[in-house]
Amino acid sequence: METAKRRKQQFGESVLVTGASGFLGTKLVERLAVREQVYSLARRPGPLDSESVMVDLTNGEEVVRALEKVPFAYCIHAAALADPDLCEKSPESAWRINVEGTRNLVEICRAHRRKLVLLSTDYVFDGRKNGLYTEEDPVCPVQVYGQTKAVAERLVLELPENLVIRLPFLFGYTSAPERRDFATDTAYRLWTEQRYPYDHRQLRTPLLREEAAEAIALLAGSPSSGIYHLAPSESATKYEFARVLAQCLGKPLDLILEKTAEVPAGCARRPMSMRLSNAKFLQAASGRFHFRPLRDAIARVAEEFRNAQEPSGCRGHSGQTQPKTYGGSYDQDAGR
Ligand SMILES: NC(=O)c1ccc[n+]([C@@H]2O[C@H](COP(=O)([O-])OP(=O)(O)OC[C@H]3O[C@@H](n4cnc5c(N)ncnc54)[C@H](OP(=O)(O)O)[C@@H]3O)[C@@H](O)[C@H]2O)c1
Repeated sequence: METAKRRKQQFGESVLVTGASGFLGTKLVERLAVREQVYSLARRPGPLDSESVMVDLTNGEEVVRALEKVPFAYCIHAAALADPDLCEKSPESAWRINVEGTRNLVEICRAHRRKLVLLSTDYVFDGRKNGLYTEEDPVCPVQVYGQTKAVAERLVLELPENLVIRLPFLFGYTSAPERRDFATDTAYRLWTEQRYPYDHRQLRTPLLREEAAEAIALLAGSPSSGIYHLAPSESATKYEFARVLAQCLGKPLDLILEKTAEVPAGCARRPMSMRLSNAKFLQAASGRFHFRPLRDAIARVAEEFRNAQEPSGCRGHSGQTQPKTYGGSYDQDAGR
């Protein structure tokens, strides 16, 4: 904790990030550590630029003990069982992590009078609205994941100073051992010239995880409270997303097929058209944040992916047969 003390003197503010080892949490810690002392709560060591607090959030007593001496000013709660299909297959775990884990944090923050910021999801809605969902719309989740997050939101909002930030489908370049990501999986398939079907019915507003981290840092560190939607205005189906990625990687568009199959048994139902209004967020950001065009965000992932395959700078001539990104299997869409 010596480093923590030094950084606190240097930066003043300190923030606790749960889920710090996750897809979004790692980028969030990276972003916050530029100007704040960061404490990472996770079940395994957190990112290097933070002080790790290793604990399982579902164990209330352990969490209380672990956080007793952590001088955080506010907490960004990113830990979750965030895979809708896993939640559907294991609703008890989803409830334990997403609801009971959140309840434990709410109690600690209440007792210590610290602000709690919950990262939630657009999946608290059913996707049937003809238009943009606003923060005033009632929740109506259609799968276990959305249901548990909706309950977690209610718990967090019991205290008026707390904040809920609803996020859309996130993407970003990931390399092993990080969690799989839709864009990276798609880049891998394109790179290895595999034809693959993508959904062309469900509309999403994809957001680059680095951009999400930037915007969350901005909002969470402000006096904002209540619910905020954080999503770009541009929407796309996964099919359209994959076609842009193919263009960015210089791969033939006929590798992208249109998916026709229905949701496999046991998997979570996905909302159809999922678009959140960002008006309230943009007003709060008052010009300090702009969503980048989706094409630019996808191009960034393509660039990072390409660099990882061809680190020596001899683009197109590396002679590699095995992509460096993962060693896993690629027969399903990752995550959401
Ligand atoms: N990714 C998206 O597209 C998306 C979209 C909308 C909203 N969100 C929300 O954004 C947040 C972050 O999502 P993500 O994609 O970064 O998820 P993720 O990659 O699956 O990471 C989840 C994190 O939660 C931690 N965690 C899970 N159970 C825990 C427990 N019992 N105790 C302590 N830590 C635990 C995991 O730690 P381990 O490493 O130990 O498992 C991991 O660090 C979530 O709240 C999610 O609901 C994500």
